Amino acid sequence: MSTQTPTMAKGLDGVIAGETAICKVEQHALIYRGYEIADLAEYASFEEVAYLLLVGEKPTAAQLEAFNDELKGERGLPSHVRDQLKNAGELVKKHSAVPMDLLRTAVSVLGHFDPECQDNSPEANLRKSKRLLAKVPTVIGHMQNAIDGKDYVEPDDSLDHAANLLWMMTGQKPSPEAVKVMDVSLVLYAEHDFNASTFTARVIAGTLSDMHGAVTGAIAALKGPLHGGANEAAMEMLAEIRKDIGPDNDPKKIQDWMHKAFEDKRKLMGFGHRVYKNGDHRAPILHALGRKAAEARGEEFVKLFDLGEAVQKIMLDEKNIFPNVDFPCGMTYFTMGIPVPQYTPIFVASRVSGWCAHISEQHANNRLIRPRVAYTGPDLRKWNA
Ligand code: CMC
Repeated sequence: MSTQTPTMAKGLDGVIAGETAICKVEQHALIYRGYEIADLAEYASFEEVAYLLLVGEKPTAAQLEAFNDELKGERGLPSHVRDQLKNAGELVKKHSAVPMDLLRTAVSVLGHFDPECQDNSPEANLRKSKRLLAKVPTVIGHMQNAIDGKDYVEPDDSLDHAANLLWMMTGQKPSPEAVKVMDVSLVLYAEHDFNASTFTARVIAGTLSDMHGAVTGAIAALKGPLHGGANEAAMEMLAEIRKDIGPDNDPKKIQDWMHKAFEDKRKLMGFGHRVYKNGDHRAPILHALGRKAAEARGEEFVKLFDLGEAVQKIMLDEKNIFPNVDFPCGMTYFTMGIPVPQYTPIFVASRVSGWCAHISEQHANNRLIRPRVAYTGPDLRKWNA
């Protein structure tokens, strides 16, 4: 038992709440198991990064081939989950569900059909990680098909992870350029140490609960707009600015919109970060790729990036706040024609690799995560006074 006097930090700001060998987030670098993010974004595929996170080392060519084959073999969903996702259109259009909710429920139900759901051994955890990694894109694809009122687009074994995700969502074979942008975005989103969703997953795993439960909780944490939901919220904010100021990027109108937002003390989505105060290392990488995709697609998309850049400049000049990865992600996925409510589910398709690595690490060297709290309620009183 600790004899130290407990200290309090709102939002656990600055608190070191555990150890990890998976990822290092610092002002000057983002590192996955020793590899810097720009290095990975340039040279590694998402599958290689997922293997690195889950296994601990980069794969050899033979290991990568076997890993890819395993993932492809696990893409199919249990019939129960397939049937359940058929209701996605109704749940989204007539009720209050959004795709992140449907994905959270689907992952929870996937646990019921995973033969090793209750087994927290390292071997079973690795097998379950691969199954989750393979199945989440299929859940996203089938859900989108159902929302679009179309038949399911089945996984295509000739396509790698990123290409297959785009294929299943649209039923169209994506261009190599689109696949590259999606693959890099998945690499950038894969891992980020003790962010809120990963911490949630570790708290759940720390009770010796199972991987599917921990990932289900992590999805709920990621959904919020202060975390992963910011990629959708950033695009919605840009759409709102566009609606308010009209089709031209009039600098005066943009500035007026921003000043009003500052006056209203609005949180601008896709900006700021708990750790990075001098910029998010992932943001410029995705911004450059997204801007290139926009230039290939046409004026409407270039103007969106121009607007985003004007907003960024005002935020930086007047508030000294940098964009985080979710800001360029919103513009990039929009340029790729992805429906906005699927941006955060796609984040899940990537971050599930990091979550599963953390859940396995927690199970392998566990101590219950149970902090103290500063009580602010009434003094002691009598019920029967
Ligand atoms: N818009 C306006 N003001 C901001 C923003 C923003 N996006 N971010 C920070 N600030 C202000 C904040 O209000 C505070 O001002 P004051 O000192 O006057 O109260 C000051 O900057 C310092 O904030 P902080 O302590 O650095 O913020 P935090 O660490 O508590 O919160 C954050 C970090 C990411 C939740 C916050 O920046 C935010 O709400 N950003 C918008 C949502 C967002 O983009 N989230 C994505 C996070 S990164 C990737 C991911 O997880 O997906």
